[in-house]
Amino acid sequence: MDPTRCSDQPSVVIVGAGGHGRVVLDILLRAGTYRVDGFVDSNPNLHGRRMDGRTVLGDLSCLPRLRDEGLYGAVVAIGDNGVRREFADHVEEMELRLVNAIHPSAHLAHNVMLGKNIVIAAGALVCTHCQLGDSVILNTGCIVDHESKIGTAVHICPGAKLAGRVTVDSGAFIGIGATIIQNVRIGYEAVVGGGAVVIRDVSPMTTVVGVPARVIKDFASVEEFAEWLLPEYVRAEPSGVTADDSAPERSRLPSATS
Ligand SMILES: CC(C)(COP(=O)(O)OP(=O)(O)OC[C@H]1O[C@@H](n2cnc3c(N)ncnc32)[C@H](O)[C@@H]1OP(=O)(O)O)[C@@H](O)C(=O)NCCC(=O)NCCS
Repeated sequence: MDPTRCSDQPSVVIVGAGGHGRVVLDILLRAGTYRVDGFVDSNPNLHGRRMDGRTVLGDLSCLPRLRDEGLYGAVVAIGDNGVRREFADHVEEMELRLVNAIHPSAHLAHNVMLGKNIVIAAGALVCTHCQLGDSVILNTGCIVDHESKIGTAVHICPGAKLAGRVTVDSGAFIGIGATIIQNVRIGYEAVVGGGAVVIRDVSPMTTVVGVPARVIKDFASVEEFAEWLLPEYVRAEPSGVTADDSAPERSRLPSATS
């Protein structure tokens, strides 16, 4: 008998059977709060396959049946910020709870405010009076210092360091090992390159790299912005998306700050 099936813990699935999904499985196993019943992924080639001891059960369409069989909730483990947020919405539409996966070696101050569908990996530090929005990833060993506000579907990569009172707006990506000095605001869906040192605000949907960080990409034109809003992008996205967590791919639609 599968030992994971004889506990009274609430059962969850991990949405996304990619590398980040594996990390989240390990976090959930270490934390021990939930029983992990398997993965869900849009890629049909993965269905029925075993990954780190858990089966890929199907795509999102199997969630209502699993819910009816007693599934408690899910955590969305997809690296792409926009896709993660969108899949989290689908999970909630199916009346499943979005749960958090917090590694026991992460340290959170007593008054940190947490949303849902948050992943906090091993060794992350979150200091006093910080706020973390829904679907945030705080990856391995990152530091978020006092009174910082992290918006919905932000990804703070391994080893990144945010000083006090930093604001990161929704959908932003803070690359591996980046450093952000105090009181800086990172705009929505901005990308901070690996190893960058950010010493001033970054505009929305802008990519910065280097020390000190400089802009290498922003919205070149009104036409380019309009392209993001074309209806075919909206229709094309939900299907065929898999847990390819080769971040940072931006979501197609700009999202409001949170
Ligand atoms: C910033 C980043 C997103 C840019 O990717 P991109 O849009 O494909 O940019 P390119 O690779 O075309 O590079 C454009 C220019 O910026 C430079 N550049 C890119 N990333 C850089 C970085 N992190 N630091 C310094 N310079 C960088 C390139 O050398 C290139 O310079 P050039 O035009 O003089 O040749 C990417 O390089 C990066 O740093 N990603 C972080 C990945 C990460 O943190 N992964 C962890 C996942 S958990």
